[in-house]
Amino acid sequence: MRIVILSGAGLSAESGLGTFRDVGGIWQKYDLEDVATPEGYARDPALVHQFYNARRANCLQASPNAAHHALADLQQSGLAEVTLVTQNIDDLLERAGARDVVHMHGELRRALCASCGHRWDAPDTMSPDTACPACGATRARPDIVWFGEIPYHMDRIAEALEGADLFVAIGTSGAVYPAAGFVQEARAQGVRTLELNLDPSETSALFDDTRLGPATEIVPAWVAELRRARA
Ligand code: OAD
Repeated sequence: MRIVILSGAGLSAESGLGTFRDVGGIWQKYDLEDVATPEGYARDPALVHQFYNARRANCLQASPNAAHHALADLQQSGLAEVTLVTQNIDDLLERAGARDVVHMHGELRRALCASCGHRWDAPDTMSPDTACPACGATRARPDIVWFGEIPYHMDRIAEALEGADLFVAIGTSGAVYPAAGFVQEARAQGVRTLELNLDPSETSALFDDTRLGPATEIVPAWVAELRRARA
């Protein structure tokens, strides 16, 4: 059985990392045009670094929760071939033991040179003075996909969806494309679809099945059910 799992900020919410669009979410505190667009970075790189430095610090303090562990355990169990695609830029799935996580929106722990395209492990704190180890330019940015940019690994994700038996979306509002469109891509190919989320999302109606509740409860419960069904 092949399963493609798409996760969003709701997966890491109970680890203490904020979501974007919930009440009190990140996009109520910051203007995304300022901190998550190439134009914002060109206007004020110091502000952009400050924003992602704070998120990197939060991430370093956070620990994977029961939902991250359940997904990593499912992947390791060999019960199914599991592709973990995430919109999250944290590394909590990896820290729970997951392998080969597809970070379609990039990663906080990586840096990208806006001048030569070189990528390297990000220091805990970045600034407009951070120099690229390859070309020396001081145009380092976090290796994050911003609005107006094309998400990473789209071919790999399309391929995984094509051969899947089940598509599961966890803790994502379905507000941001192309990830929000994966459920339709899956359906078009006859793949069964399941949503696990705290509240109904913008795309709930498109899923064959939706289960509501906190990720730390409903994700381990779903994984346990799958294990029983395949035992
Ligand atoms: P959102 O903040 O848009 O949505 C979070 C979803 O998680 C909502 O549907 C919540 O109901 C749900 N949720 C909250 N707490 C939860 C919990 N404890 N258990 C389960 N679900 C919970 O976050 P994303 O959908 O991930 O992109 O946002 C997608 C993209 O928009 C992000 O990757 C980011 C953002 O702008 C960029 O920065 C490029």
